Amino acid sequence: MKKTLALVLALVMVFALAACGQSAAPAATTETAAPAAAPVAEDAELVGVAMPTKDLQRWNQDGENMKAMLEAAGYAVDLQFGANDIATQVSQIENMIANGCKVLVIASIDGDSLGTVLAQAKEAGIPVIAYDRLIMNSDAVSYYATFDNWLVGTTQGEFIRDALDLDNAEGPFNIEFITGDPGDNNINFFFDGAMSILQPYLDSGKLVCPSGQVEKAVVATANWATDAAQARFENILSSNYADGTQLDAVLASNDSTALGVENALESSYTGKWPVITGQDCDIAIMKNLIDGKQAMSVFKDTRTLAAKVVEMVDALMKGAEPPVNDTETYDNGTGVIPSFLCEPVACTVDNSQELLIASGYYTMDQIENG
Ligand code: BGC
Repeated sequence: MKKTLALVLALVMVFALAACGQSAAPAATTETAAPAAAPVAEDAELVGVAMPTKDLQRWNQDGENMKAMLEAAGYAVDLQFGANDIATQVSQIENMIANGCKVLVIASIDGDSLGTVLAQAKEAGIPVIAYDRLIMNSDAVSYYATFDNWLVGTTQGEFIRDALDLDNAEGPFNIEFITGDPGDNNINFFFDGAMSILQPYLDSGKLVCPSGQVEKAVVATANWATDAAQARFENILSSNYADGTQLDAVLASNDSTALGVENALESSYTGKWPVITGQDCDIAIMKNLIDGKQAMSVFKDTRTLAAKVVEMVDALMKGAEPPVNDTETYDNGTGVIPSFLCEPVACTVDNSQELLIASGYYTMDQIENG
């Protein structure tokens, strides 16, 4: 017990120190310590890696980790970030195809907008691995590598259930909801997974949503943007909580939307701080996690996902079977896509030291300069 407390205190101090040196800007361009780049042979086969944006920390990590690991495995890599602009991502993928890539790895901006360009990939015999987000309605998608997105959602829902002790406490408790981009198929798993836990309490009246904004389409956030999340919550707070009504919990599907909620609360809420969920363990929310302003995040070790995708690419290049562990869950509209699901883990201040620092996921320097 003492040891745990000491660890937590040490972490609090380190994060507090780090936070002092932190710039006000979000940690958008932070990159994790990727393996050192290996020299790439001139005749190395080319892998195209298309990531959605550099604006969120995780995609920088995912992209750089994968590039380094693919290069270490002897492949040349064309890594592109799509600036959250669908047309940009489409033209990046077109270029990858024109440049003779042998496998495409794509984290889509909008899961429904790549049909035409992926038809070209299929025509050219290039297998496509959907990365993290499923690409919908295209029969060119060969494999899918992601985290167990339903488990992310149920983990968040269970966290709120347990933090409010919904099965025993009298309640009722006030809750608000926020999820991510409607074009990201993952929100169907994150949000529906969380609601599979929370809906019974809404139905029984133990949970109440004062804004009435409960439907997925209504609580979605274009591009998962922090400022849009903040603006929506400023409205919710001024319309429903300005009279001192207590907000007990916010189900936020990820850290960038949670941060918007936390910013809105900072500027216009004086009641007891609500339980807020998140996902990704972004550096930008670490201070809030330590300060108790965000109760939890879901840690998805992007190194594990990148390593699995490198295995998939390597198998495809060698004509072998890529590793999969799920052949039932993810139907993209053309049939079930064979998938590999990595495991997400709930992260709170209590296990953050072990998950994030001891595992080498973040260095102190990254936290300090994040
Ligand atoms: C990812 C999340 C991420 C979100 C915003 C989702 O598709 O699974 O990890 O927070 O996109 O980038």
